[in-house]
Amino acid sequence: MLSTVLVFVSTLMAAAVALDNGLMRTPPMGWLAWERFRCDIDCEHDPKNCISENLFTDMADRLSEDGWRELGYVYVNIDDCWASMQRDQHGRLQPDPKRFPGGIRRLSRYMHNRGLKLGIYGDMGTHTCGGYPGTPLSKIEIDAQTFSDWEVDMLKFDGCYSNATEQAQGYPQMSKALNATGRPIAYSCSWPAYQGGLPPKVNYSQLAEICNLWRNYGDIQDSWDSVLNIVDWFFDNQEVLIAVAGPGRWNDPDMLIIGDFGLSMDQSRTQMALWAIMAAPLFMSNDLRTISGGARSILQNKMAVRINQDPLGLQGRRILKEESGIEVFWRPLSNDASALVFFSRRTDMPYRYRTSLSKLNYTAGSYEVHDVFSERSVTLKDSTGFVVSVNPTGVVMWYVSAPVKPNRLQEFFKDARLRGAARGDLANVIPPVFL
Ligand SMILES: *[C@@H]1O[C@H](CO)[C@@H](O)[C@H](O)[C@H]1NC(C)=O
Ligand SMILES: *[C@@H]1O[C@H](CO)[C@@H](O)[C@H](O)[C@H]1NC(C)=O
Ligand SMILES: *[C@@H]1O[C@H](CO)[C@@H](O)[C@H](O)[C@H]1NC(C)=O
Repeated sequence: MLSTVLVFVSTLMAAAVALDNGLMRTPPMGWLAWERFRCDIDCEHDPKNCISENLFTDMADRLSEDGWRELGYVYVNIDDCWASMQRDQHGRLQPDPKRFPGGIRRLSRYMHNRGLKLGIYGDMGTHTCGGYPGTPLSKIEIDAQTFSDWEVDMLKFDGCYSNATEQAQGYPQMSKALNATGRPIAYSCSWPAYQGGLPPKVNYSQLAEICNLWRNYGDIQDSWDSVLNIVDWFFDNQEVLIAVAGPGRWNDPDMLIIGDFGLSMDQSRTQMALWAIMAAPLFMSNDLRTISGGARSILQNKMAVRINQDPLGLQGRRILKEESGIEVFWRPLSNDASALVFFSRRTDMPYRYRTSLSKLNYTAGSYEVHDVFSERSVTLKDSTGFVVSVNPTGVVMWYVSAPVKPNRLQEFFKDARLRGAARGDLANVIPPVFL
């Protein structure tokens, strides 16, 4: 049944075309200012946290020195409230001179010198959401050229203060204008979020042709309620959304708030796991200068990042919604591997969920299973019943290998961890690891 789903998805994907700028063949990763730092412009009283060049160079230092860049977290993205209220005498946007004294060009050079990329923010309307100068239709070419002159690598184009008619003109026009600069600039479109995120108002085939990623839904806030609300919307609408995602074109459920104030460690693992299943962009919005070791280890989990960055770029799906409050998610990966997430919506105690791989449509024999957060591995036969213990609002996440060939299975029996297992009866192997 799963292979049927896979063929269906691939067929749809072949029909859709991605924006031809060669960028973001896997979901982009990096840091984005908005959720954590908003429109704090009070540099006099809050110099460490205000939207200023220092905030972005601080984050760049952390990304390049604390092991983030090597994992793929390379974008450092400015959001709203960077601009001066006035355009310059040539009609160009300019940064606030007090808060960005070196200008955006110096900031992009700072990023490039460290192997990072710079993203900037604009708005397809008269004003940005924060009331700064927008980019109405008449200013699209000049603003695209300005961003390119500054050697910016990505543009998030918001939609406040514009109507549906203007958006239908402006978003494609900006895509053309960015292309015309000759500089590859990744393009994030907030357009669908302003049109309810669903067809017929949103034409996802068109979006995939003009944008690299798009915000489908509302802004994330620093709370578990907000994460859950976003998760529900994306998986309730998965049939629409899965079909349009792929290399170079991604659905964006918004920033990671791991490391902020609203999520427990279990909830943080849940956000990381489900964003990986969704092939979502991984833009952290947190303070990398003071992040806890726990949050950092979740965001730097190599297997979770590897699943997110799988080169096939297929968005995963929810495959089960149990009455017990357990939900199971699945994402096909390259090399016939896959990822599974067991998520508990419960609020009582760790729930012992009993199932087997064959109940989850794995029917080709034995598989090597790697638990992403406990970092333990085991070989599991499709028919073997097992129990996973899932914490309230938490997850268990697995990377599941391609079916293990019988001759390779012999080698697994030589593994010390499995030596005690009765030959031919894998049932004994499983419980200690996952109970
Ligand atoms: C512009 O679009 C053309 C045609 O789709 C593509 O070949 C080219 O690489 C694009 N250039 C940039 C800078 O995005
Ligand atoms: C959208 O705004 C333009 C002004 O830029 C106006 O002429 C047009 O009537 C508006 N359209 C809708 C559908 O409100
Ligand atoms: C959606 O966009 C595609 C690609 O631009 C276009 O071919 C198609 O006609 C559009 N669909 C609708 C319903 O407008």
